[in-house]
Amino acid sequence: MSTDKPGDALQRADDADPHGEVETKPGSFAEPADPIDNPGLPEHLPRPTDVYPEAERRAERQVAGMFALATVLTLAFCVFYFVVPIDATFLGWSGLNFALGGTLGAALLLIGLGAVQWAKKLMADEEMVEMRHPAVSNDEDRTEMLAKFNQGVNESGIRRRPLIRNTLLGSLGVLGLPAIVLLRDLGPLPGSKQFETVWARGMRVVNDVAGTPLRPGDIEVGQLVNAQPFAFFETDESGEKIIHGAELLQEKSKASVIVVRMRPEDITPAPGQENWGVEGILCFSKICTHVGCPISLWEQQTHHLLCPCHQSTYDLSDGGKVIFGPAHRPLPQLPLAVDDEGYLVARSDFTVPVGPSFPEVEQDK
Ligand code: FES
Repeated sequence: MSTDKPGDALQRADDADPHGEVETKPGSFAEPADPIDNPGLPEHLPRPTDVYPEAERRAERQVAGMFALATVLTLAFCVFYFVVPIDATFLGWSGLNFALGGTLGAALLLIGLGAVQWAKKLMADEEMVEMRHPAVSNDEDRTEMLAKFNQGVNESGIRRRPLIRNTLLGSLGVLGLPAIVLLRDLGPLPGSKQFETVWARGMRVVNDVAGTPLRPGDIEVGQLVNAQPFAFFETDESGEKIIHGAELLQEKSKASVIVVRMRPEDITPAPGQENWGVEGILCFSKICTHVGCPISLWEQQTHHLLCPCHQSTYDLSDGGKVIFGPAHRPLPQLPLAVDDEGYLVARSDFTVPVGPSFPEVEQDK
């Protein structure tokens, strides 16, 4: 161990010149000696797994066991995704979240723990000194790196230990499955849902709050009534609504309508829609064809309907044509008739999709 104090090296350089001048090349300084001795690397001590074959085999089994268990848990994740009901609970938590989070989290943890155990107990643990090199690698360095990489692969034992290698590959391979399984949440595809509502031939038009059927005599000229299809108020034998919950909200977002009454002589029906009204009563979708806001701002005198979101304005006396604003399509009209008991009913479902436009609708325009 050197006993030099900081500054001793510069002192020695000064001492070398009796006149106090250090002998250096022009523009350079005398380099002081390293004031701290290089302690070198500590002696390598073998681990039990380096010495006792039984300890080595035990460590190998532990690592492989963790990788294998990770594989099982990842597969369990996929199974739970399909079999655990979405409303199941476990200790007050969502049972599905608990099952999915628990299995995938534990699988990732076990793969990590297995890798740590493998590195600590079985891979070569001798420390090496790597000297600094220029940033750019030359061919020689690359060859050397490749040799070291191969040496590392050999020392990790991945070629000699097919049990660990295969279980690791298995656990990492199945990790891709959850990502594929979760894609199911993007579906199912909408099919014809965007083109259909619950309106059907003969379905009564009812008040949107009380569900009472509407007669033509209930609506005055200039009046607007918010309405729904009777299907939303239908109940089964036990008094429960047949359409309820999320399904009811989804169907409402498509089937909600407004019923307006104008003087028949003020109406210019679109070609082919001459008999879609009853005594000046017309029925239109309540959903704006721009981005789907519900509309009911009605101007009695002009027969204009204004969307409060972006001011699209429709002329209900002229087939629901857009006369202002960003909407692209007329407001869809529901054909009306009167049933045997004198109530307003639909002649059919809407003949065009309701709500915001989408590519297929735009193509059909
Ligand atoms: Fe009606 Fe934008 S949603 S104008």
